[in-house]
Parts: sequence; C-alpha cells; structure tokens
Amino acid sequence: MEKTPPYYGSYLQLEKVLDAQAPLSFAPGQSPAHDEMLFIVIHQAFELWFKQILFELDYILSVFQQKKIDDDGEDLNLVRHRLRRINTIFTLLNQQVGVLDTMTPMDFLAFRNLLTPSSGFQSKQFRLIEARLGLEMPQRHHGEYYKRTNEGGFNPQDFQTISQTENEQHLLSCINDWLERMPFFQASFWGNPQIEKEIDHPFWQQFRSIYVAGLTEREAGKAADFDRIFFGIPTAHDSASTGTNKFSATALRAALFIMLYRDFPVFQTSFQILDALIETDHLMSQWRQRHLSMVRRMIGFRVGTGNTSGAGYLEGALQQHEVYTDLAGLSTFLIVRSALPNLPDALKKALGFRLADLSFPG
Ligand code: HEM
Repeated sequence: MEKTPPYYGSYLQLEKVLDAQAPLSFAPGQSPAHDEMLFIVIHQAFELWFKQILFELDYILSVFQQKKIDDDGEDLNLVRHRLRRINTIFTLLNQQVGVLDTMTPMDFLAFRNLLTPSSGFQSKQFRLIEARLGLEMPQRHHGEYYKRTNEGGFNPQDFQTISQTENEQHLLSCINDWLERMPFFQASFWGNPQIEKEIDHPFWQQFRSIYVAGLTEREAGKAADFDRIFFGIPTAHDSASTGTNKFSATALRAALFIMLYRDFPVFQTSFQILDALIETDHLMSQWRQRHLSMVRRMIGFRVGTGNTSGAGYLEGALQQHEVYTDLAGLSTFLIVRSALPNLPDALKKALGFRLADLSFPG
C-alpha cells in the first residue's frame, strides 16, 4: 500500500490543537470578552512548553538514575545541553508574560468570574516540574493548599499523579548522589595522609585558612558556616542565609571543588551542569516574580480564582520554592583564583585532557 506523505497540518495535528480554544464568554447567552482568547492561548502555550521541559527533565533523570554514570561519556554532555534548553524555554516564558500585560484589569474582569474556581495553581505540569527538580511537600508555602481536592484544588487524578511524582527520586537527590561519589579527595592523590575527619584533609585545612583570612570583621561568622555546611559541625546560631541542608556536606564539598577548579578540562561539563541548575532556579524565580507583579496589577489584593490568598500566596511561593539554593549559596565560599591552593601533580594530571593518550600528526 502506498504511504500518504506527511502533510503539515496533519503531521502537527493542528486540527486538534487549533480547535482547543473555547472561551466561556463566547458561549450562547454570554457577552463575548475579546481578551479571553488571549488568556486561553497564552496558558496553552505555557503548557506546551511545560510539556517540553518535562520531556527534557525525564531524559536528564534517566541519565542520573543509571547504575553507573559515565562522567567521560556523551550522556553528561547531553544533560548539560538539555538543561540549557530548559533554561532557554524559561527565558522565553518570562518574556511571554509581557504579552499578557497587554490585557488590562478591566478586560480580565469581563470574564474572570466565569473561570472560578479554576486557576494556574492547578497546573499539573508546573507541579511536576517543581517536584522533578526537587521541591518537596514540606518545603511548600501553605502545604495545606496542595492537599485540597475540593474546589480550587487538584482533581483526584492529578493529585495522585503529583503525589506519586513527589515520592519518586528527584533531580536534586540524583545530583547529590552524583556529587558524593566524586573522587578528588582520595588519599592516593594527596600523599596518603592519615586523617581522622574530613576537615583534617590537607586540602580543606589549607583552603579553610585562606578563606577565613579573607573574611572581613563583619563576616567572621562565615567560618562557622563553612564548618557546618561542609563538615556538618553544628554552630551555636545556624545562619539561615547560607545553606538549607538539602545537599549533604560531602556533595557540597565536591560542588565547591568543581566551582573552584572549573578551569580544568574534566570539570567543564560538571561545572556547567551545576551552573545551569542554579540558572533554572533563578529563571523560575524570575517567572514567579513577573507573574506576581502581573497578578497584583490584574486583581490587586483579591483572592485568586483558585481560592488562595492570591498575591500573598504567590509571594510566599516566590520566597520558598527555590530548590538549588545550596548550590547558589556556594558563592559565599569562593576565593580569588590567584589564591587557590596548588593541587598535587597526580590530581592535576587526572583533571586534564587525556591528550597525551592521543597521537597528533606532526
Ligand atoms: C490574568 C492573568 C493571571 C492571573 C490574574 C493569575 C492569577 C493567579 C493567582 C491569584 C494564583 C494563585 C492561586 C489562586 O488562588 O488562584 C495563580 C497561580 C498560578 N498561576 Fe496564574 N494568573 C494569571 C496568568 C497565568 C498564566 C498565563 C500562567 C501560565 C501557565 C499562570 C500560571 C500559574 C501557576 C503555575 C500558578 C501556581 C504558582 C505557584 O504555586 O507558585 N498564571 N495565578
């Protein structure tokens, strides 16, 4: 049988996609609100991009969930590339809020009541993105909102999918495990020193003293933060500003080491993966900020159609829902390149390109 060649509209199933906009105010007996079409299209555009983000995240998770991750292989390069793609999509989504800003509060009011009690709060895909990245229920602002399955909450099916995803291993936990197994501090690289605790490791002894010497008087407390975050040594007053303990001390030591020695060839991919995750968080925060400003302008201090406190809830989510704050917080502990401790030759060799193993002509 002859195959029909693909046709633009049928390949993209445009009939379904372009027939999926049904403004409630256009129904018989209602007064059509012109801007409801924009409102629907922009939400659908967001959801399509959320779908792509989830698709990329699923791939990234599958790489980190392998029994053995090959740090030298192609997979991690693809992870880096696809994380960058996610960030480019979020950048686009942030810009798209500007299109919605062309709708005035009065234009929105013309159809707002028809939507109640539905709301972006119920975006299953947005919740799955948050959960896959590593946001857990106890960290959510007003966790009780998420457990509602009545009006304004999730329908039972979505609630089940979201709860199930929240119980699966998320990217933050995978990244933590991946970092924990980094071998830079192995005794063999460092002349086999006899140490009882990690804080006695020659690298950390030297690095800590350089770091502490560079602190100003007002920053003196950061030395105790350093000991707590990287070695789990409790401090009298835990500083809320640095670290949330989502990552283990071992993982954070590896992450800091990668950030410090990012110029070594072996760290190119791992550094960019960490940097991209910090950027994802940053772009999601920017989205929450833009959405919040738009909401304040659109509905002032009214409650949301999803029956949260509206702008108040969104402010809380903005402040609490970042995931990779531990990684972003590592900047607190950076020192200038010229002061970096020199690494043992054996380790430097291991961190370099394996060009010596290749033979170049001429
Ligand atoms: C007129 C435009 C909009 C208004 C007035 C608005 C208002 C709100 C409000 C008040 C909430 C809090 C939940 C509630 O009680 O309803 C919310 C949450 C949310 N909205 Fe919107 N929204 C608008 C457009 C959008 C668009 C275009 C998207 C794109 C998908 C979106 C996605 C979301 C998401 C994901 C949440 C949950 C945020 C979180 O929990 O951090 N909203 N929105």
